[in-house]
Amino acid sequence: MRVDIDLIKLKLKEMLGEERLEHSVNTSKIARKLAIKYNYNADKAEVAGLLHDCAKDLDYQTLEKMVLEYNIQLDEIVQKIPKLLHPLVGIVIAKKEFNIQDPVILKAIKTHSTGAAQMSLLDKIIYLSDKIEPLRNMNGVEEVRKMAEIDLDRAVLMALDKGLLYLINKNLLIHPISIEARNNILRKVVFV
Ligand SMILES: [Fe+2]
Ligand SMILES: [Fe+2]
Repeated sequence: MRVDIDLIKLKLKEMLGEERLEHSVNTSKIARKLAIKYNYNADKAEVAGLLHDCAKDLDYQTLEKMVLEYNIQLDEIVQKIPKLLHPLVGIVIAKKEFNIQDPVILKAIKTHSTGAAQMSLLDKIIYLSDKIEPLRNMNGVEEVRKMAEIDLDRAVLMALDKGLLYLINKNLLIHPISIEARNNILRKVVFV
């Protein structure tokens, strides 16, 4: 894959605030490391890591406008959780602004917040990198970082669990895809 990483970073700089840019670069570095460890294409992982939050700093009006303009389908839960719009709009920006057409990269961007019923290796790498990059400080993140060095599925399961517990404790809606993601990884990890 020939994608100019420096060019992506330069363009991203115009779209993201300083902290979000740092988060994205950190995510891409962890994604690269995990890709090498788990035998995946490191360049693809780096690109997906860089771009996963490319729509996150858009204001709500712009996100809504893009949803209409590009006819992005929103399910009932996403309609109620504005935070879940940025992965969907992110796909459009990745395609239009960064010329990313690889469906595997686009799916990893799409699923980085909720997980997916069937997570590809890249989906798992990006989901996890996003949650464990050095700026992240959620409770217990250190144990997830350690597990990421040992077992990718178990680390994703831990990160999903922590995310779900956070939502439960805050009385927030849970997207059913996250439950499916958790059930399927749990089956893989526990009932092999
Ligand atoms: Fe995100
Ligand atoms: Fe992120």
